[in-house]
Amino acid sequence: MSTAFVPGSFDPMHLGHLDVVDQALEVFGAVVIGVLHNPSKPSGLFTPDERVALAEQTVGDRRSVTVGAFSGLAVQAAAAAGADIIVKGLRTTNDFDIEQQMAHNNVALTGIRTVFVPCRPDLAFISSRFIREISSQGVSIDHMVVPAVSAALSTKHGEVNS
Ligand code: PNS
Repeated sequence: MSTAFVPGSFDPMHLGHLDVVDQALEVFGAVVIGVLHNPSKPSGLFTPDERVALAEQTVGDRRSVTVGAFSGLAVQAAAAAGADIIVKGLRTTNDFDIEQQMAHNNVALTGIRTVFVPCRPDLAFISSRFIREISSQGVSIDHMVVPAVSAALSTKHGEVNS
């Protein structure tokens, strides 16, 4: 059994992410979800601690899945988590272009390899960015996230707008 590290911003975690975690779990047997700060993106809607809590609620009672907040490079976080491999989901060819570059950098830096899994076609349209945008207008995103995340988005947008 190996441990797969699934990194991302998870702002918030959605059902597309959950599918990637489930695929990684099936292949590798154990998964660490790494909530990482992405310096190329402006500060997010949820704090890192909130993202971890929502990811934990999203994975529910799945065994052999843990969630943590990490800083630095994905490979440093993967090593800190005791993971052997990084797993990333691919939605589109745009995802592939940047992910392939990151995978080459990561293996050159540490030897930690990246495995890509295709996102489930019926979930491939989902992104955290659009979830934040749609829910900020009070429109339901219940088909894209677990109920706890939907509730947290309603609360957060209420706080932001008050
Ligand atoms: O969910 P996202 O925002 O697409 O996740 C991107 C993330 C956080 C996984 C990516 O930006 C990342 O790995 N950041 C950590 C810094 C790093 O390792 N950069 C790559 C150097 S080659």
